[in-house]
Amino acid sequence: MHKDNPYLPSLATIQGIEDLTSDVRLLRVTLPAGFSYLPGQCALLSILGVGESTISITSPPTQPEYMEFAIKRVGKVTEAIHEAEVGEQIGVRGPMGNHFPVEMMRGKNLLFVGGGIGLAPLRSMIKYAFDRRSEFGHIDVIYGARSPQDICFFKELTESWPQQPDTAVYLTVDRGDEAWSGHTGFVPAFLEEIAPSPQDCLAVTCGPPIMIKFVLQSLEKLGFSRDMIYTTLEMKMKCGLGKCGRCNIGDKYVCVDGPVFSFAELGELPNEF
Ligand SMILES: Cc1cc2nc3c(=O)[nH]c(=O)nc-3n(C[C@H](O)[C@H](O)[C@H](O)COP(=O)(O)OP(=O)(O)OC[C@H]3O[C@@H](n4cnc5c(N)ncnc54)[C@H](O)[C@@H]3O)c2cc1C
Ligand code: FES
Repeated sequence: MHKDNPYLPSLATIQGIEDLTSDVRLLRVTLPAGFSYLPGQCALLSILGVGESTISITSPPTQPEYMEFAIKRVGKVTEAIHEAEVGEQIGVRGPMGNHFPVEMMRGKNLLFVGGGIGLAPLRSMIKYAFDRRSEFGHIDVIYGARSPQDICFFKELTESWPQQPDTAVYLTVDRGDEAWSGHTGFVPAFLEEIAPSPQDCLAVTCGPPIMIKFVLQSLEKLGFSRDMIYTTLEMKMKCGLGKCGRCNIGDKYVCVDGPVFSFAELGELPNEF
């Protein structure tokens, strides 16, 4: 956060660009001076004269050299961000919001359930846990995408993550193609098939709202208690500072009270998300 004016972005230089899918691009940028964050937090990325968008920080804070963002091209700002090139600067405001309950997760088994670009915030926590592997128990990652071409972070999911100690990665797609020999089907049913044990396990899920809704139900069916399930919500935001009222659900502002909520907390909010 800029120390004199929280509305003023810091400038970050784009160091690297990688296309994760046909419409999701990974941007690696320099970490602005004094910018520190925890997994689950987001930032407002801006292009001068176009606007700003809330984007989850997808790199782990254990990586002090740079920050990464996975950005899906959906409209004006995200299109402008996709047009930016290595060496150019973009505005970064933040970090915004709360984070995953990192302290509570220490010593526990971790279950991550992601869908589509919803893997972005989870990846920050997954890589944080890999970098501090002895502080966490078994790690399961269950991830689904609409098609094999829509899988974000394919190389990490299929090559580096399954090689981490005491870690299992499960992939599914809604619709396969001739080349796809993996699992086909929706994430909640796949999760119930895998049936991870709720014993000493904290679950974190992020993805399209419909997926989150059914994953929460499946986790309860598997015996996870509501205070051991966390999710991160994507409400439209403007100020990111709890001032404009754009992102409220009941008396909570997603930009400052969230975006991370436990299922127990969500149960107390009006059903507007
Ligand atoms: C906490 C949080 C974390 C997010 N993390 C990421 C991320 O890691 N990567 C990423 O690509 N996107 C993320 N988003 C969504 C991102 O903020 C929007 O897609 C982006 O602001 C759209 O801006 P635009 O100008 O390109 O599109 P617009 O021209 O404003 O809109 C284009 C289309 O996208 C829809 N849209 C706009 N904002 C949102 C939103 N917040 N949620 C859902 N639909 C939206 C609009 O209704 C419209 O249909 C996150 C949002 C929040 C609130
Ligand atoms: S975005 Fe303004 S109050 Fe949350």
